[in-house]
Amino acid sequence: MKGKYSFHNKVFKTLQVMSQKGNDVEKVSDLLKSAKRIAVLTGAGISAESGVPTFRGGGGTAVWKGMRFDKISSAEMVRSDLPAVWEWFDYRRGVLRACEPNPAHFAIAEWQERFESLTLVTQNIDGLHRAAGSRDVIEVHGNIHRSRCVNCSKLFQMSRDDVPHDPDMCKVCKSPVRPDVVLFGEMLPEGAYEKGAEAAALCDIFFTIGTSALVYPAAALPEVAKRAGAFLVEINPEETPLSHLCDVSLKGPAGEIVSKL
Ligand code: OAD
Repeated sequence: MKGKYSFHNKVFKTLQVMSQKGNDVEKVSDLLKSAKRIAVLTGAGISAESGVPTFRGGGGTAVWKGMRFDKISSAEMVRSDLPAVWEWFDYRRGVLRACEPNPAHFAIAEWQERFESLTLVTQNIDGLHRAAGSRDVIEVHGNIHRSRCVNCSKLFQMSRDDVPHDPDMCKVCKSPVRPDVVLFGEMLPEGAYEKGAEAAALCDIFFTIGTSALVYPAAALPEVAKRAGAFLVEINPEETPLSHLCDVSLKGPAGEIVSKL
């Protein structure tokens, strides 16, 4: 508590000085010098500069063969048309084969060495944080390179080159497999939200990066952090429903801004 109190004094002084200079990137960089505990929530926007399409933003919504992404990515579709669900996820895994982590992924991976504690929660299923070197990433929506038996829940890891998916059937019980990702209408993996919420409640600075902040429960994490007294920073070229809650909104692409911090 003492640590958090002295950090808050620092926040107050920095805000007083920086409000005269008006440079938000400098303001956040300065606070990072004395921060000990950092929590980060990322969304599709952090991978946009790697070439991964976002779901929303820029005034549009992703559509696959005439179907909105939240219909094809739903628990109901797994039940009614699993091959169509696989077609969509195999397509996305095909796109990902050409994608590499960008400077934002690498900068966040380096933060692990820079701060006493760094918790990274991502809504992304693309695996790019881990590819950049981040450890213990809390993947609240699963991972596109993993499949799961619909019957016995055995997990299968796929390589980037396994497009289309492999195996096609469970090697243990011969039942169909499905992508090991959280679909609309499904629960998050056990304990994933709770771990993120604990880090949010204890951090000095919480970053929300490249997310439209529309999909709950992940979108509640910045609110948890703010209520617990964290300094809240958003990095996104667009306004989101969270922007008004943030202490600082850094408007622009994550790859450019995160590396400046
Ligand atoms: P969205 O596609 O909803 O939002 C992407 C956000 O990234 C938008 O707010 C953009 O303005 C922002 N953005 C675009 N380019 C950016 C850049 N270069 N740098 C920073 N930000 C940028 O993605 P999510 O919020 O991640 O869930 O979506 C949440 C969940 O909805 C996803 O995990 C997925 C989807 O349905 C499931 O599939 C369960």
